[in-house]
Amino acid sequence: MVQYTDELKEEIRSANDIVDVISQYVTLKRSGRNFFGLCPFHREKSPSFSVSPDRQYFHCFGCHKGGDVFTFISEIERISFRESLEFLAEKARIELPVAENTEFNKNQYLKDRMHKINATTTIFYHERLYKPLAKIAQDYVKQRKLDNNTLKAFKIGYSGEYNELYKHLKNSGFKDEEILATGLVNKTDKGEFIDRFRKRLMFPIMDVSGRVVAFGGRKLENNDKMAKYINSNENLVYSKKRHLFALNLAKQSDSKKIILVEGYMDAISLYQRGFNNVVASLGTALTEEQGRLLRKYSEQVILSYDSDGAGQEAILRGLTILENQGCDARVLQMEGAKDPDEYVIKYGSGRFKLLVENAVSLVEFKIKMLKSKYNLEIANDKIKFLKEITKILSNVDNKIEREIYIDKVSEKYNISKEAIYAEVNKVSYNNVNETVLTKSVKREPKEVVISPSVIKRENMIIYLLINHFQDAYEQIVTNITLEDFKLEENRTIFKKILESPAEDSEKILQMISNIENQDIQSHVSEILVTDYEISSVEKCIEDVVNIYTKERLCNRKLEIIKALESTSSLSKDEIANLEQELSEIIIELAKKK
Ligand code: CTP
Ligand code: MN
Repeated sequence: MVQYTDELKEEIRSANDIVDVISQYVTLKRSGRNFFGLCPFHREKSPSFSVSPDRQYFHCFGCHKGGDVFTFISEIERISFRESLEFLAEKARIELPVAENTEFNKNQYLKDRMHKINATTTIFYHERLYKPLAKIAQDYVKQRKLDNNTLKAFKIGYSGEYNELYKHLKNSGFKDEEILATGLVNKTDKGEFIDRFRKRLMFPIMDVSGRVVAFGGRKLENNDKMAKYINSNENLVYSKKRHLFALNLAKQSDSKKIILVEGYMDAISLYQRGFNNVVASLGTALTEEQGRLLRKYSEQVILSYDSDGAGQEAILRGLTILENQGCDARVLQMEGAKDPDEYVIKYGSGRFKLLVENAVSLVEFKIKMLKSKYNLEIANDKIKFLKEITKILSNVDNKIEREIYIDKVSEKYNISKEAIYAEVNKVSYNNVNETVLTKSVKREPKEVVISPSVIKRENMIIYLLINHFQDAYEQIVTNITLEDFKLEENRTIFKKILESPAEDSEKILQMISNIENQDIQSHVSEILVTDYEISSVEKCIEDVVNIYTKERLCNRKLEIIKALESTSSLSKDEIANLEQELSEIIIELAKKK
């Protein structure tokens, strides 16, 4: 195995900003110096997961996992440390030294070839669309009202007959196994190579950076026996659940909203009519990975699913996934057309824009769905309805938001506000009791109790050594000893610092992140993401050093006083010396106050 050097490791680390990397898994919000979110390693309702962009560390105050970007990736992807390094190197397109034909290197090479094949194929299909033989596709495109700018923006194409793509790829120098790996060509039992997509209108699916990773092909013939769409199967470079069609375009939009549609044609058609913030989930149920992508590139997601299609349940699922990730998710309600494409063509982009603006929240959508189950004219139904909406409303954490909904519901369904409040308060009270109960059961007694203020103080010393090495080192090591540290983790870290020849903050941090011990890493990350609200570093060092010297002096004072109590075992000189020392200590202590 090739040994990766520390320099390489640092290069990979600095090319992968921890906030960017973690944002792909966790919804982060900035608060002060740090970012916060819901911990991906344990279930929680309020965010205790913190990321420090300055120190490039993360820490969860709930489950105490923490570390640097490599730790995060190996934990979340469940891979080894070495693999996390390779994973992040690939992300940053940093080439790793190749020594042997490792599985990883072979994969890397194959992926690269597959990307090249996808790029070549995209051009092949796209150019073919403009040739005379593509009349059927050209007519179809016209009928669907797609203009040339759109065809270019999405690199729409027309696939060949029989094995035209295969021949083209072979002529371009690609090997059979590379071509087969993309799934663009299949090999029959007889050993023949046949293109997967034939005589279809082709939509390349791109990743966020605009690289083509897969294709979808729409039939052009009016033949019921043919599948309307066929798509690339999943492969080494394409995982359906991690991609959203047109996200590469939508992420460039200035809008803070993203409109989520189901189909290729919906995204394309809206784009052409000025909505450059549309992505398509391609007919499958929204996944958590896609939810995270959406959260990363937008502040609000508007679900605009087909009016007949997926149905209410799919919308509800999608909304819930998005809300769980801290997304502001809304539902666009459409009447008079089966999908967004048909709607904009029929009613124009102005009307569609209004629908976007009037999209409703998850709570409103749920209440509307509930309403359809009950007949509010019947008293019994109305009571059940009230009970059900209370459950929904009591889950709204934000008080002001909750009040707004209660106002709306009260007005819309003619239920008194007081009745709703009374019910909501009942439910909320029960929730509170439950959490108190579970917390007290979980509490475990600790063997040695170190007071929180001592821990905080020790942590701050480590923090100062890492972040303000030049100013803090001398002062701290001359006044504070290893034995002063009560917390084992802090003692280990301080010992490392004492032993290490490191002479600046960067090196200290590197050295500490190389301690291979989960408890230590978790502890360090906590220190690094904590805001100690230090206004003057100098003053802070002075204060903390003072605490320890004072403590030392006080202890010595007590010792001397005790010794002087039984003077029989001491010589005159010894007594004189002790008394001298005692008076010096008393003066010293008085100065410090
Ligand atoms: N889909 C698919 N295979 C099918 C049907 C649909 O993969 N046999 C996916 C496609 O990604 C499609 C999406 O589901 O875009 C939504 O389906 P639909 O609404 O039927 O397609 P549209 O994009 O609206 O296409 P068109 O308007 O051309 O019918
Ligand atoms: Mn359609």
